[in-house]
Amino acid sequence: MMKNKLPWKLTLIFCSAVILELIIGYWFLAFFLKGYLEQNIEQNLRHQILAGKDFLECKLQGQNILLDADVLADKIGKQNNLRVTIIDKDGRVVGDSDLDPSDIQKLENHLNRPEIQEAIHKGLGINKRYSNTIRKNLLYIAVPLGNDKAPVGFLRYAIAISYIDQIEGQLKQSIAGALILIFLLSIVFNFIISSLVSKPITEMAKVARAMAKGDFSQKPSIYSSDEIGDLAIALFSMSEEIKNKIDKIKHEGVKIDAVLSSMFEGIMVVDEKGRVILINPSLRKLFFVDVEPEMKQVIEIIRNPQIQEIVDKIIKYKQKLISEEITISQPEEKILKINAVPIIRNNTLEGAVLVFHDITELRRLERIRKDFVANVSHELRTPISSIKGYAETLLEGAIEDKDNAKDFINIIYQDSNRLANLIDDLLDLSKIESGKMEMNLEPVDIKPILERCLGVLEKSIKEKKLSVSIDIPSKLPKVLADEKRLAQVFLNLLDNAIKYNSERGSIKVSASLSDKFVQVDIADTGIGIPEKDIPRIFERFYRVDKARSCQLGGTGLGLSIVKHIILAHGGEVWVKSEQGIGSTFSFTIPKA
Ligand SMILES: Nc1ncnc2c1ncn2[C@@H]1O[C@H](COP(=O)(O)OP(=O)(O)O)[C@@H](O)[C@H]1O
Ligand SMILES: [Mg+2]
Repeated sequence: MMKNKLPWKLTLIFCSAVILELIIGYWFLAFFLKGYLEQNIEQNLRHQILAGKDFLECKLQGQNILLDADVLADKIGKQNNLRVTIIDKDGRVVGDSDLDPSDIQKLENHLNRPEIQEAIHKGLGINKRYSNTIRKNLLYIAVPLGNDKAPVGFLRYAIAISYIDQIEGQLKQSIAGALILIFLLSIVFNFIISSLVSKPITEMAKVARAMAKGDFSQKPSIYSSDEIGDLAIALFSMSEEIKNKIDKIKHEGVKIDAVLSSMFEGIMVVDEKGRVILINPSLRKLFFVDVEPEMKQVIEIIRNPQIQEIVDKIIKYKQKLISEEITISQPEEKILKINAVPIIRNNTLEGAVLVFHDITELRRLERIRKDFVANVSHELRTPISSIKGYAETLLEGAIEDKDNAKDFINIIYQDSNRLANLIDDLLDLSKIESGKMEMNLEPVDIKPILERCLGVLEKSIKEKKLSVSIDIPSKLPKVLADEKRLAQVFLNLLDNAIKYNSERGSIKVSASLSDKFVQVDIADTGIGIPEKDIPRIFERFYRVDKARSCQLGGTGLGLSIVKHIILAHGGEVWVKSEQGIGSTFSFTIPKA
């Protein structure tokens, strides 16, 4: 982790600067100090020697020579911690603080020493040189004693240069020590300052890193009113803005998602290379897609070449709008209408949107309506042409033939009955279907209605020698129904149970209570219904055996009317049947 590197870096930079500054400082100090020190020592010597001169001149008191010069030299030397030499006007050494009187005798004449010569001419002489006497590098300073023009002698001080060097060395050492101390302190201060300076930056870096990871909850504290403060505020508002934008995008996404998933139509979106980027739940269900699209080609997800072709037409051949109907057979037969349009932005093709409408039901209804019109015309034509034919035959003379004439008129009568039935049924059906049927719902007992209907059908029951049994519990509650319509249901179902029953068969009508409904079952022992016809038996004009139904005076509308009436009551109707054994028609109707 690159954690808190900044303070260390800053400290390093500051410290390097300090080291450089200290080195330069040391160099300057040392250089100037050396000069200053030398000057200072020289100055001191001057003062000291002038003081010594005053002292000695006092001692002279007009005499020409000091009697106890060596003692005085020793004394002054001791006081000033110097080598003091007293020389008479001829250059003879008469006193020296560092030498014994016996040694002084041996010294050569000092009159020609540079400092003495300088003192003679200028009143003060200075010279640096090696002293053979005491074997050291010395700084000499000399002044004349007494009258400057005609001195009685000379006073000379000498100081070892090594002593100056020693002081200089000590001074340099203390400077270096001080500088090192300053440097050490500066490291500490630098680190503290660096930490203080970099703290907000480090914190902002942390916030920015969190932002990059999608965490917008961290906020930089607002710092001073300087640039760092500005940066913190900018970072803060940037984070707010990004968060808002992300929230907005998420929100939009949720809305689009909600729209797409609640849509009944299937939606598919592909990109400019024909790869699927979106499939909504409806379409998934339609084609049993359980994988994620993951930018796959359409054919990899929905194994239907026709759909791939539609996508190709738009993506590869740049067609503008495609509306095609396709039929799929898996898992059940369905007709789909696909509308496909390209997504074009700034004149470039970015993909395509395909909308799938399931028009199976629409097509089925359309077919039923077409069939209905054809059926009605056909159903009407058959009895009419029969009536017309027999009427013509009668007119052409058959009316004279009494026996035949009666048969013919009978047929005409039956066919006109059939026509009347058909027209009644059609009118009923259209009334029910258009919602104009008046329903007069009231609590009614089933049993009396059933008995009345059986009474109406008594003649045909007897003709077929059928036995009828009724099993209705006495405590069965009333149902909420329109009595006339309920009677119509019974009549139609019983009529079928008689018509499609076998000779000497039986009919059993039973009723029971199940929850909020009363269920009625009408079972017969007739020819039954083939399984494949069962789903269509309630359609208009649908008959298993058309010839047989016609012969029996059927219209093919009975069950259709039953279904509509029961649905209008809020019930359900269904059939269970086995060919050659019998059928049981059941319906439910809400209890009152
Ligand atoms: N109880 C039944 N037993 C056998 N087939 C039946 C029965 N009820 C109805 N069907 C079949 O259903 C078809 C439709 O009945 P329906 O709508 O009442 O018309 P219709 O009775 O006029 O033929 C009949 O033609 C017949 O093929
Ligand atoms: Mg019928």
